[in-house]
Formats: sequence, structure tokens, C-alpha cells
Amino acid sequence: MCGIVGYIGEKDATPIILSGLKRLEYRGYDSAGLAVLQDGKIEIRRDAGKLSQLSALVNDQPVHGKVGIGHTRWATHGIPSARNAHPHLGTTGRVVVVHNGIVENFLELREELAVEGVPFNSDTDSEVIVHLIERSMGGGNDLVEGVRLALRNLKGAHGIVVMSADEPDKIVAARIGNAGGVVIGFGEGEMFIASDIPAILEYTRKMIFLESFQMAVITKDSVTVQTLDGKKVESQVHSISWDPVAAEKGEYRHFMQKEIHEQVRSLTDTLAGRVDFEEGRIRLPELNLTPELGQQIKKIIITACGTAAHAGMVGKTMIERIARIPVEVDIASEFRYREPLVDENTVVLAISQSGETADTLAAMEEARQRGAVVWSIVNAIGSQAMRLADGYISMQTGPEIGVASTKAFTAPLVDLYMLAVLLGDLRGTLSADVRKKLVGDLRLIPDLVGRCLDREDDVRQVARVMKDVRNMLYLGRGINMPIAYEGALKLKEISYIHAEAYPAGEMKHGPIALVDRDMPVLAIVPRDPWYEKMISQIEQAKARGGCVLVLATDGDDRAAELADHIFWVPEISWMLSPVLTVIPLQIFAYHIASYRGLDVDQPRNLAKSVTVE
Ligand code: AGP
Repeated sequence: MCGIVGYIGEKDATPIILSGLKRLEYRGYDSAGLAVLQDGKIEIRRDAGKLSQLSALVNDQPVHGKVGIGHTRWATHGIPSARNAHPHLGTTGRVVVVHNGIVENFLELREELAVEGVPFNSDTDSEVIVHLIERSMGGGNDLVEGVRLALRNLKGAHGIVVMSADEPDKIVAARIGNAGGVVIGFGEGEMFIASDIPAILEYTRKMIFLESFQMAVITKDSVTVQTLDGKKVESQVHSISWDPVAAEKGEYRHFMQKEIHEQVRSLTDTLAGRVDFEEGRIRLPELNLTPELGQQIKKIIITACGTAAHAGMVGKTMIERIARIPVEVDIASEFRYREPLVDENTVVLAISQSGETADTLAAMEEARQRGAVVWSIVNAIGSQAMRLADGYISMQTGPEIGVASTKAFTAPLVDLYMLAVLLGDLRGTLSADVRKKLVGDLRLIPDLVGRCLDREDDVRQVARVMKDVRNMLYLGRGINMPIAYEGALKLKEISYIHAEAYPAGEMKHGPIALVDRDMPVLAIVPRDPWYEKMISQIEQAKARGGCVLVLATDGDDRAAELADHIFWVPEISWMLSPVLTVIPLQIFAYHIASYRGLDVDQPRNLAKSVTVE
């Protein structure tokens, strides 16, 4: 969490830092601040609240310079306030730091520094870093050496950017562990630093990514990357193909709404170049899946968090049904501490939009240490989850900015389906006819997703009626059970309505006691192998006076008769139905939150990338 940016060049750093922070605000919005080198002095502007507060402050008290750093905060230590906002200045007023991560031993370090007489101006863990750097520079060391020595004292995972008024020709950035990325972008006579690609995409597509335990010395014309022991490193320069316009809201009110509507495009791109409809075959070259490996796999464990984990739950049914390989789905924060039973015949498949979720990365590392083959399905190009894996599938969604994940849910569903077909093909579990049929069904996806989106207004009208409910129960079965979880998560995270999801067959074991007129039930009932079971579940809810919203396949009169409100989706093969059934639920949650006047893209207490435990 937290977003960090830096600029060094010939232009005015302030607007560049503010525009970078704007694009990183999804990472945290408790406070924001910037520091710019102006006339040989470090000038800081910072305030509690969203970036608009900082922009207003900068308007009132302008600051200009050619070198600067900035930060948008998701608070961990110390309440959201101006005093706790980054950047943090050292006692000499000559060194300044922005930080992403948690200094796990900060109490110890703070005490040690306090005994030495260092005054503290905030309640954050981050402030110790600037004091440690200053202490390390005390013996005549320069900034680079000061940073290197200071970092040795820190426990935890960190991304930091540092600047000194005494060495105005450089910025130093460093990364330890998985606290979020540090990306360095190349311009002409200028360089950019950020936690994530979209912040600097407007200025450059040529970027390098710092690995853990690396630091970079950035001048306006160059970057030198080295390990924390001072060994020079050659970093691969990536050319980022994302369209900068994709990181803008355009005609939409919110990023979430825009991203919901981008799913036709993102799913078209997901299929492009990977599906041979003629031959009925799938190609996923970056996965490095050889026929030998395909045969060797005894078990797949999908590990992820939140929405990505729900995609994994759908993938379990797809892979087990199509490729006949046992699949477990394990929440990454659980998997990493479970002492999981994996070996070289196990594939651990991580799913992550950001590619930097701390628990997911730790789960991948755990799997690697235990000898498993590690794969990832990941959106952020060059992210740690992509680099840590033996093979990966790159989601073709472009940047996802809204905190509530939408297009980065449907893309991995299709990726998992393609993976299942590829594995089934390699392991000989599919006849040519079945394989061709499964592949052929993919062709329908973009069009049918478009038809779901065309019905936004019908869903919006139901949202208008339901906007004041206090609770909701989402029910699904089989391959659509995870869609109940995903629909409920969307509702709670952006509308703050309590929503629970249950496998519908479990209702009679307890939760049905909750059902009365004040507990609307949303039942996901497409024509799939669990259809009849779901219908009887709806009848049971109705018999107890519940208001029932039904999500059904076009033309299903039986479902319509039982429904108080209905969402329709077009007919599709049951295995691909989750790609469609989730869409009305995304739209429903979006409009409820919108009607309630809530901040859809930046819901309270959340951040887009969860880089802390
Ligand atoms: C979904 O809407 C979330 N905001 C959240 O659950 C998210 O999916 C989760 O934090 C995992 O993130 P990742 O895909 O970037 O790893």
C-alpha cells in the first residue's frame, strides 16, 4: 500500500509528482505529501486526507524545483494526519524520505535514536528511516552510503525514495522484500520513479523494476542499480505496451464503471493470439508448460487473496472437470503458514492483479522453497508475481485502478479455462471433438459479455430499489458458488452493506434462520448442472418470506416466476457461465454504492494493492 513517486530532470517537479500521485491514489488515500528541492532547500507540503487537499495546499503555497519526491499514504502506524503524512524530513533538514512498507522493529530503533537525542516529529514507523540515514551520513558518508547503511537496520519489507539538499543531482531509491514495487522510468534528460507503472506511463514506456535488496542511484540522465552490498546489477529495460489513456476515467463517472465496461475489450485481448479456433487448441507460451511437465503434475494448488481467490475457486471446477487434475484453493495468508504439503509434482498457481500482494508473494516463495513448480496469472507487467514464477499467464486487462476488482476477475476466469483445456490436451483427457467444442465456446465470450453490459440499466433500476437494504445473502452452487462470494464481496467493499455468501446447499445447516423480509436473498441460477437444486433453494427462501433476487438465463420462465427482481444473462456453456453471471453483480454493487453517494473507487479503509500482512 502507499504510493511513492520521484522526479529528477529539467521540468518543474511539482505538477509531475502530483499527477503521479493522482494515479497512485488507489494505493492509499489517508494523506499525501511532496518534497521539492527549491533554491537549495527542501520544501515540504503535506496534509491529511485525499490528494485534493494537497493540491489545494500547493496552490496556496506553491513550490517549484527540478527534483522532488511524493507520497500518498495508507496508514499503518500513526493516525491519518498532516503530522504523520510523508515525506519525513531529518533533523538537519537536508535529507527527506518517502516510504512504503512497515518498519517492523521501529519501536526498538526509535528508542535507540531517542536515547541519542533525535527528536521525532511524527508517530510513524517511517520517520526512523530518515534519522538512520542521517546518522549513517554523520561519519562523512554520502547519501548512497548513508542509505545503504541505514537499510541494514530495518526489519520488514520496504520501498523507499530519498533525496538530499546537499546532493541535488540524484535521488536514491531502494527496495527490500515485497512492500510494493519500485519502477524507474527513462525520459530524455529526466527520470521518473514510482511504485507502479500507471503513475509514469504518461511520460515514458521505458522502465526497469527494482528487485528486492537492490538500490538505484538516479540522476537526470542515468540510473545505476546495485545490490545492497554495492555490487553493480544490469537490469532489464522493459517496454510497456499499456495505453496511457487506459489509466484515465474518460467519459465514466468512476474507474470501476469504466473497468466493468472494458471487459469486452479485455476478454477479446485475453483470447487474442492464444486460441486457435481452427485446430481447437490453446497456446500459453509464457507458462513454460512442456508435455513432460503436463504429465508429471499430480496436484495443483491455487493460492490468492480476495477477488483473485474467488477466480481460483471457479478455476478449480474448470481444471478438475476438464483436465482431471486435483485442485485445492488456498487463501494465500493461510497457505503461507500452513506448512503446505507440496513437492516437485505439485504446481502452485498464484493469481494476482497487482502482482505485489504480500501474502500471495509469500505463498509463492513458500511453494518454491518446498520444491513446487510455481506459476502465476498476473496483470501488472514486470511485477514480482510475474518474476517469481517459473511460468506465467499475463492478464490482458491493462491497468485496473478502481479498488474493487472487476475486469481483473473475468480475465483470469478465461485464463484458467484455457489452462484447463491446455492441460487436458497434454494429458489426453479430452477427445478431439470435446476439445474443439470447449475451445469453440470461447469465441462467444466477448459478444455475450457485451450483451450483459447492455443491460446495465435494468440492473441499475433494481439497485435503486435495493439501495437501503442493510443485509444481503448471496447463494450459488457448483461453478457459480464462487460468484456468490464475489458478488457479496463487491457489495460490501464499496457500499458497506453487510453481505454474506453461502453455497446454497448449506442453507439448511444454519443460515436459513437468517431469512426473513429484511434479508434479501440473491440466488445465482443459470442453466447449469446445479439448476434444479438452486430452484428448490429459492423456493425454501420464498417460503420463509424472503425477498428474492434471481440471476437467471434468458427465457427462464420458471426462475422468473419465483423472483421479486431478476437479472438476465445470455445462454452460454455452463463451464463459462461465471464470466457472465458476475457482470450483473458487479453492476449491481456499483450502482448501489453510487446511489448511496459513496466513494466507489476509493472505499474506506481499503487500498488497491495490499503490500502488508
Ligand atoms: C477486490 O475487489 C479487492 N479489492 C481485493 O480483494 C483484491 O482482489 C485482493 O486484495 C487481491 O489483490 P491482487 O489481485 O492484486 O493480488
